[in-house]
Amino acid sequence: MTTEYFTITSESDREQIEAAAAILRRGGLLAIPTETVYGLGADGLNEDAVRRIFEAKGRPQDNPLILHVPSADWLARYCEDVPEAAYRLAERFWPGPLTMILKKKPVVPLRTTGGLETVGMRCPDHAVTRAIIAAAGVPVAAPSANVSGRPSCTTAEHVRADMDGRIDGVVDGGACRVGVESTIVDLTCAPPRLLRPGGLPLEELRAALGEVAVDQAVTRQMGADERPRAPGMKYRHYAPKAPVTVVSGTPAESGRWLRANVSDDAGVIAFDEFVPLFPTQTVRAIGPAADRAEQARRVFDALRSFDDTAVTEIYAQCPDSSGLGLAVGNRLKKAAGFQVIDACDGKRVVGFTGCTGAGKTTLLRAFAEQGALIFDCDAFYAEQLRTDADLQAALNEAFPGVLRGGELDRRRLGALVFGDPERLRALDAVVRAHLPRAVVRAIAASDAKLIGIDAIKLIESGLGALCEETVAVTAPEEVRVRRIMARDGITREAALARVRAQKDEAYFRARCGAEFVNDFPSLAEAETAARDFVRQLL
Ligand code: TXA
Ligand code: MG
Repeated sequence: MTTEYFTITSESDREQIEAAAAILRRGGLLAIPTETVYGLGADGLNEDAVRRIFEAKGRPQDNPLILHVPSADWLARYCEDVPEAAYRLAERFWPGPLTMILKKKPVVPLRTTGGLETVGMRCPDHAVTRAIIAAAGVPVAAPSANVSGRPSCTTAEHVRADMDGRIDGVVDGGACRVGVESTIVDLTCAPPRLLRPGGLPLEELRAALGEVAVDQAVTRQMGADERPRAPGMKYRHYAPKAPVTVVSGTPAESGRWLRANVSDDAGVIAFDEFVPLFPTQTVRAIGPAADRAEQARRVFDALRSFDDTAVTEIYAQCPDSSGLGLAVGNRLKKAAGFQVIDACDGKRVVGFTGCTGAGKTTLLRAFAEQGALIFDCDAFYAEQLRTDADLQAALNEAFPGVLRGGELDRRRLGALVFGDPERLRALDAVVRAHLPRAVVRAIAASDAKLIGIDAIKLIESGLGALCEETVAVTAPEEVRVRRIMARDGITREAALARVRAQKDEAYFRARCGAEFVNDFPSLAEAETAARDFVRQLL
């Protein structure tokens, strides 16, 4: 079968809409864009067409399909005893990422509903797709357009990869705006029950409905002999070829666990801030740790993308369950077959960084007075150079000959990289691959619950993301110049040059959670202020 591709950018493109609708009317298979994921559509009242959906996807016959309609007016055509709550939800959330389970009318074939007397109803928030459905004049049964068991499709390219040659047409509507499937709520029981978390957050559903129960299949693996209310929830799902493990905990905790434990050639699904920590791994960023909407948009593409790589294991950071995090976490955990590692370590790690001459040491001393263990990254690196066999081996590989009789020849290494930007970058890469791992391993091995990391490159190295809090120590340029002149006995020009070669206050202010402005005229005043600052922070 040759698959026809349509690019329809507006619902007023009548000719194209008609051509696409004609495929549905004659019982063909048409992949359609929605705001959540691409659907594999067919006339939901035509048993032959519906059978072809199951064949094309390789989908188990008992897994029911959702009917897509252009508006709530169509509910009464296919559903019996529609409760008032259904109209209220439709009024509030349709078109949008919400599927309601309702009692079906006899016109809806059991083949469509996988033998159930209920049917899932959804009105997608995609004007072109609604226009196609309205033009076809039939409710469109559409599961996600992926081959059964694979991650859902959020671009027409994904659909092509899974369905080319197996279906009649694909409507390319660009990348999906939401990225995870619709939220499914069962309205045939009391209280209503969440069967699948999705693009509409549970919090919003509760705000509209009051009490909403959460089905067990949302949070745990269903056994082979169990019957979840959404039959689809019992199948292995969303899985790339390599096995997935989800690492739970706060972003900093899961980041620390991953950096300490994943092998150099593993696949990693990480929040954007953590990407620099995995220079050798195959990393897929799914958006900033706080941006669950972006994570929803990217999670399926990330899962899919590993199939083109050689990775044999994948580890994923996972958002908490608020807002869209419940859906993102559910997809990741399902992809992992609910294989989850709990990385909660109860530690509080605070990263300190800032401008040269700003007086970081004063604040660190105040922090240490609170019983914190302090990692000075410069000193730690120097010690690693002496003691870490892995680091020494990596350096010896990048700079043959710097390892002499098991001892690193630091002078020779220094001479090699001095004034050679290329070699300096190579050294930087080796250090970046080793130092954060050594730091987090040391953190994991220590009993301390309160830990400070002192690192001038806290942000650039990615270490800042591994901290519960980050603090920038800053001071006005003039103050820093004077301090450096006094401290190092150099001229004003030399001090200014040194200060200007480094990042300024604005850089650190924009990237750290808190700022300690150290512009006090005397050390005694700075110390008092530092103690106050630390007390506030803790
Ligand atoms: O966002 C979405 O919902 C996408 C787009 C294409 O609309 N569709 C989608 O369909 O995700 P599908 O077939 O991949 O997932 C539908 C889920 C399955 O887990 C199925 O078991 C459940 O909905 N479901 C469908 N009808 C049901 C019913 N009557 N009772 C309980 N669960 C039902
Ligand atoms: Mg699906």
